[in-house]
Amino acid sequence: MSRKQRKLSRGFLVVLEGIDGCGKSTQAKRLVRALRHKGFDTVLFKEPTQGRWGRQIKEKAGHPNGLTPKQEFELFQKDRKQNVELNLKPALEKKKIVVLDRYYFSTIAYQGAKGIDIHKIKRQNSEIAVSPDLVFILDVDARTGLDRIKDRQQKDRLFEKEDYLQEVRKRFKSFAGENIVHLDGNASRDDIFLKIKDAVMNRINGFII
Ligand code: ADP
Ligand code: TYD
Repeated sequence: MSRKQRKLSRGFLVVLEGIDGCGKSTQAKRLVRALRHKGFDTVLFKEPTQGRWGRQIKEKAGHPNGLTPKQEFELFQKDRKQNVELNLKPALEKKKIVVLDRYYFSTIAYQGAKGIDIHKIKRQNSEIAVSPDLVFILDVDARTGLDRIKDRQQKDRLFEKEDYLQEVRKRFKSFAGENIVHLDGNASRDDIFLKIKDAVMNRINGFII
């Protein structure tokens, strides 16, 4: 049984953002499944990546003598540059739908909260990154996010102290723009998903050929 393939006239980049445990990976996977089911050529990527720089971030961050905020910022930038060149641009050129779990909004929120100048973060990212078509920011408070992921391994909880995450959350909440959609991450998975799916389908409708 072959499913009808549906094509777009151009690539489309959807980003999911929010603090750790907000539910973005859950929604990203679900969105990819739904879009594929509808016949759209869809790929999922995540930052930090599994590439050279992403692995360094995971290895070094959080160690007492691991990384300064500046070094951490530089690694995230290198990882992003590689992700854009190796993954995002080729997929978008093939007119795929790209679903991306974290992007430069995370750098602005997380590294901004560690004192890196947000104008510098924005400037550097405008040089290396492709602009997303739609960005969903899932909002939960830091305690809720941390409670949801408390069984994740310690090494995966490097960036996840409550006060820090509360500050990061504030920064995520301050993003505004016509492509940015804020969603209550406390709602049910199904309710959040319906909102995401509707917004994506509304936007891509104009590009279906
Ligand atoms: P993130 O990628 O934002 O860190 P995940 O999608 O991995 O978060 O979700 C973290 C945990 O919270 C998982 O156990 C997931 O099943 C659960 N979760 C996700 N969305 C919701 C939700 N809307 N309500 C309650 N729990 C959720
Ligand atoms: P990861 O284990 O991938 O967490 P999650 O499943 O929540 O995405 O770790 C990613 C961590 O890296 C997360 O705490 C957010 C942080 N991060 C930054 O600090 N800056 C960035 O630019 C990005 C992409 C992630």
